[in-house]
Amino acid sequence: MTAELSPIDTAKYVAAKRAVDFVEHGMRVGLGTGSTAAYMVRALGDLVRDEGLRIRAVPTSTRTADLAREMGIEVITLDEAGWLDLTIDGADEVDGNLDLIKGGGGALLHEKIVAAASERMVVIADIGKEVATLGAFPLPVEVIPFGWKSTQAQIEEMLINMDVLARDTARRMTGDSPFVTDEGNYILDLSLARIGDAHRLSMALNQVPGVVENGLFLDTCDVVVLGHGDGRVETRDINAGTIQEDRLEVMETENLFTDLGN
Ligand code: 5RP
Repeated sequence: MTAELSPIDTAKYVAAKRAVDFVEHGMRVGLGTGSTAAYMVRALGDLVRDEGLRIRAVPTSTRTADLAREMGIEVITLDEAGWLDLTIDGADEVDGNLDLIKGGGGALLHEKIVAAASERMVVIADIGKEVATLGAFPLPVEVIPFGWKSTQAQIEEMLINMDVLARDTARRMTGDSPFVTDEGNYILDLSLARIGDAHRLSMALNQVPGVVENGLFLDTCDVVVLGHGDGRVETRDINAGTIQEDRLEVMETENLFTDLGN
């Protein structure tokens, strides 16, 4: 088969490929959600099939679970795993402290629970996700359907006292229907333009009745792997204070070019 990845997909692929180097035999691994995470699941599938890697995985969404099973990866629940050695997940924004906005794919609740239960979180993204300050990407907030309009109104009122540049909120839609998460909840996307104090905002959001969780992942990520369209990849480790640069080739594998949607 002849196929070529676009620069953005090359960036996602090399980040994913580099990140699976962190996975060791016997590990319990959290699997993120999204297009970059899908490359990672496929790369792990190659290692399971070709190199006999044995891991047990906890996916963060039904679509990641389906893909992992398809790739021959053993899937278990978080309760069966108890604790995870490592989680690899994507992000919508990452800043210089490795704080994140996540939830563009609507899986932020499971992603946050899985990340919190992990010894280490490795985030994979194309370089376009790197920002100086969080907030240009609309912040996803998961809310329960009961009284969601009242929850939205209270969030808007709370935002008046927050250090943000814009305050637009919208329920996420899929066509004409509301988007519904794996837990049966809605997502409110908060267009804030710039978030001045992410910790304060995160705490205030989670105090609004009806809010289940928000997409700010603060002090959670240990390593970020950023891919470039030309195959370069930067691995930044916040604990070690190191930045490593590599260049990876895109290798055609049976798994790579099929069904790479979210
Ligand atoms: C899903 C997420 C994703 O990790 C995030 O949206 C990035 O997705 P992609 O890799 O497709 O850009 O948080 O809830």
